[in-house]
Amino acid sequence: MSARNVIEFQLNGEKIEARNISPNTTLLEFLRGRSLTGSKEGCAEGDCGACSVAIIDRDANGKPTYRAINSCLVPICLLAGRDVISVEGVGCSANMHPVQRTMAEGYGSQCGYCTPGFICSLFEGFYRDDLKTGDDLDEQLAGNLCRCTGYRPIRDAALAAFSNRLSTIGDDTFASRLKNFDNDPGAAEYEFAGEKFFRPTSLTELLRLRKENPEARLIAGATELGLDITKRYKKFPTLISVEAVSELKEIKSTATEWHIGAAVTLTEIEDQLGEEFPALGDMLRVFGSRQIRNRATMGGNIVTASPIGDSAPVLLALDAKVVLASASGDRTLPIEEFFIS
Ligand code: FES
Ligand code: FES
Repeated sequence: MSARNVIEFQLNGEKIEARNISPNTTLLEFLRGRSLTGSKEGCAEGDCGACSVAIIDRDANGKPTYRAINSCLVPICLLAGRDVISVEGVGCSANMHPVQRTMAEGYGSQCGYCTPGFICSLFEGFYRDDLKTGDDLDEQLAGNLCRCTGYRPIRDAALAAFSNRLSTIGDDTFASRLKNFDNDPGAAEYEFAGEKFFRPTSLTELLRLRKENPEARLIAGATELGLDITKRYKKFPTLISVEAVSELKEIKSTATEWHIGAAVTLTEIEDQLGEEFPALGDMLRVFGSRQIRNRATMGGNIVTASPIGDSAPVLLALDAKVVLASASGDRTLPIEEFFIS
């Protein structure tokens, strides 16, 4: 199988063919390199939200939905086959989206550095069926920092935009885009200057690629490996994404257990299991930010084995087990035996 030399995706409704670019380039670098400079770099580590954009993903019930993400952390190769909306695609001064109009009218912006990121978070919130209360709104915005406006005008502007959203959403082009969405990320591969990227769609294929590329790093949401790129200036020679591996994208139950695929995002886990396991729900609500949870996976948080990883204490307390798979078979371990140091 020879690797392709183009990464194709939709950006603000337009087909993009990215060539001659390192697969380790972040989406933020790519956007700004195309003069889409609304998205800003503040921290380059998923804390400030200035770089936020939206993608189309599926919720825990499989329904297409917008998700705000931190573009500073996502290598461009992970966008292959996806739909990306940057702040420029949300609207412009001649055709403002309701979340932009109320921010402008409600003085929700001063220097403006954080504003595009807030707009992309509000954009996700505007189309969320499950965002109903002021607390939900606060959680939606918890990944966006502002140094000068103060949060009250921003929150008030958001509440004004959301108050009549159900009456305006019906014939809106972004809602239609969700209705017609059938662009799930599938198999992908890309190579440039010796740097390779693979995105298999089955566990068998993943394990084969892993065996053939022992130097490869597995990647899902990139909320951890993205930091190696932005902060340690690393370039990974081979990345294998687990994001499209169907077996790892499922949450399933038996009479006695829940099985959470390693590539399921924390937002999906929170939506599906947060009520049944309140300790898990409480932890996930304060795990990073909305943008981080929209990309980060439980599998990634476990295998990173960071002493400050938030999911391990809850999983240890719940007596969770991990299923470890390789080309030669799989085995199940209590999670306390997985962490060896
Ligand atoms: Fe701060 Fe991306 S630049 S979260
Ligand atoms: Fe200046 Fe928010 S308006 S940082």
